[in-house]
Amino acid sequence: MIASHHNRVVIVGTGSVGSAVAGAIVEQGLCNELVLINHNPNKAKGLAMDLADGSEFLGRFITIRSGDWDDCASADVVVITAGPKPKPGETRMQELDAAIDIVDPILKHIKDSGFDGILIMVSNPVDVLSWFAWRRTGLPRAQVFGSGAALDTSRMKAIIGATTHLDPRLVSGYVIGEHGDSQFVPWSTVSFIGKSFAQYLEDNRDRYPGVTLAGIEEQTRRRGLDIKGLRGGTSYGIAATVAGLIRTILWNERSVVSVSTLISGEYEYEERDVFLSLPVALDGSGVGDFVDLHLSDEELAKFRASAAVVREHCVLIGG
Ligand code: 2OP
Repeated sequence: MIASHHNRVVIVGTGSVGSAVAGAIVEQGLCNELVLINHNPNKAKGLAMDLADGSEFLGRFITIRSGDWDDCASADVVVITAGPKPKPGETRMQELDAAIDIVDPILKHIKDSGFDGILIMVSNPVDVLSWFAWRRTGLPRAQVFGSGAALDTSRMKAIIGATTHLDPRLVSGYVIGEHGDSQFVPWSTVSFIGKSFAQYLEDNRDRYPGVTLAGIEEQTRRRGLDIKGLRGGTSYGIAATVAGLIRTILWNERSVVSVSTLISGEYEYEERDVFLSLPVALDGSGVGDFVDLHLSDEELAKFRASAAVVREHCVLIGG
């Protein structure tokens, strides 16, 4: 008799991001049961019905339903996407106060349900809210993380793919730091088809006139804002990212991803109380070992500066 483990994912928040995450999970058949929670129950109920309507054409049958906080008790993964509507021109950090008012009660309900699975924070500002979730729920470090720079890393690869007209998955490397303005690409650690990407660009200077590492980094950093300016917000890039993180967890893939996790001395940043994205192994037990990228002195300084920006806001809200 095979040990059939029924895995349940709960998504809190069914706005544009939550709905896109739900769609990605259903399309990829990542779990047996998907439960949707929204402060307006009709929104969750309507989305569950809408997603279930495609059942005949999906690769795998999934139970999809709206639910409530007690559904978190035996959930394997809870994803929090609830947050204030992003305002034009506002940075993610500027959403903090409005986001806390929404996320704090949600965290209390999740904690009170007895949830002991893996909590993925997606709401912005995701680094500060991930730290807040860790403090509020009391879950171990391994079980609380933010989607963070996993999205930025995918964006960096997508931009390199579009620039070189080659498969973005040929890029090996990460965006690290805040999921925000102080994020950066430690280019000394990014490789592409068997050499550093910096070297690849150098060797093909004539093929990519005007393309620079700084330019790719800035395009990556601005991507969320640029898309928000064009369509009011982002949803599909973050949805594919979160679905990928959930797959790594539920299928125990032990991939290495740049997600927002509790910093404890990595890269010589000794301050406590801060969540920030750096490459970590991710599997069914959650966030595992930190992967040392061997940063240059300049990159170490950038990391510490980014950590200081996030920590300043964590301390501000006191968690
Ligand atoms: C993004 O970067 C808004 O954080 C969201 O797409």
